[in-house]
Amino acid sequence: MKVRKAVIPAAGLGTRVLPATKSMPKEMLTIVDKPAIQYIVEEAVNSGITDILIITNRGKGIIEDHFDRSPELEERLLASGKQDVYEQVVSISKLANIYFVRQKETKGLGHAVNCARSFVGNEPFAVLYGDDVIIGEDPACGQLIRAYEKYGKAVVGIKAVSEEAISKYSSLKVEHLDGNEYSCTDMVEKPKTPAEVLSLFSILGRCVLTPDIFDILDKTAPGAGGEIQLTDAMRTLARTVGMTGVDFTGKRYDMGDKLGILEATVEIALANPVLGESFRAYLKELSKTL
Ligand code: UTP
Repeated sequence: MKVRKAVIPAAGLGTRVLPATKSMPKEMLTIVDKPAIQYIVEEAVNSGITDILIITNRGKGIIEDHFDRSPELEERLLASGKQDVYEQVVSISKLANIYFVRQKETKGLGHAVNCARSFVGNEPFAVLYGDDVIIGEDPACGQLIRAYEKYGKAVVGIKAVSEEAISKYSSLKVEHLDGNEYSCTDMVEKPKTPAEVLSLFSILGRCVLTPDIFDILDKTAPGAGGEIQLTDAMRTLARTVGMTGVDFTGKRYDMGDKLGILEATVEIALANPVLGESFRAYLKELSKTL
């Protein structure tokens, strides 16, 4: 079955980015001239997704506003002859069919994804973590969808992380299949000891899931941090029917981390067709003083 639906969980508290995220959702933090979540929605759309459910919570209404029309602003832009900006603003509301649901309590990523059950129905669906922006020629979500179509199993986007970092991520048991594709038969969230580390491959930011995940999530007890972990539910899938891991191409920026936000801003600004050249000149001058 074709993957045409995506879920973007964006209901976390963003405690690693405080005080910026006290009232501003981290998903709305700007990278150059667009909020992070717009890059993620664009990646989904460029991967063939037509319907997107964004999981929000209290205080995140600004995300809904961003994907809505804005009649007063549009009128003003037209009246002042700013046709190109007008078109940019209107196009945001036409990117996809975008739906919203609230996660009423912040009980973890697994709990957030479980809020998507009725939206998803009986179809495979992509999950794009709301604080992971991935930039690349070939959209990461599309790479995972192709692997789903090839192997018919749920897929996780994977990347190797350092030995020091693995305890902050998940660790996967993988075997090489073909190119950048691996079979994944087990996983552990935030391994506490070196013995728990299955490999340095970790799930980063994207997956394609099958609807059987919802029954598994219903039975998943709170795990690391007292939250319902999506990884714990995916482990059941990996151990029973198996999953596919795709070491996707593209650069991932962690918008849930202050350094990640700075890296995204600098690198995406350097690649910007309008600002890139003058920003590069500015950075070169600045670097002489460092
Ligand atoms: P994170 O664990 O990175 O988000 O979840 P967080 O809880 O906001 O992070 P801290 O507080 O800085 O440690 C990854 C993604 O899952 C969403 C987040 O919004 C983020 O996009 N999420 C997390 C939810 O939607 N609901 C939750 O209960 C937890």
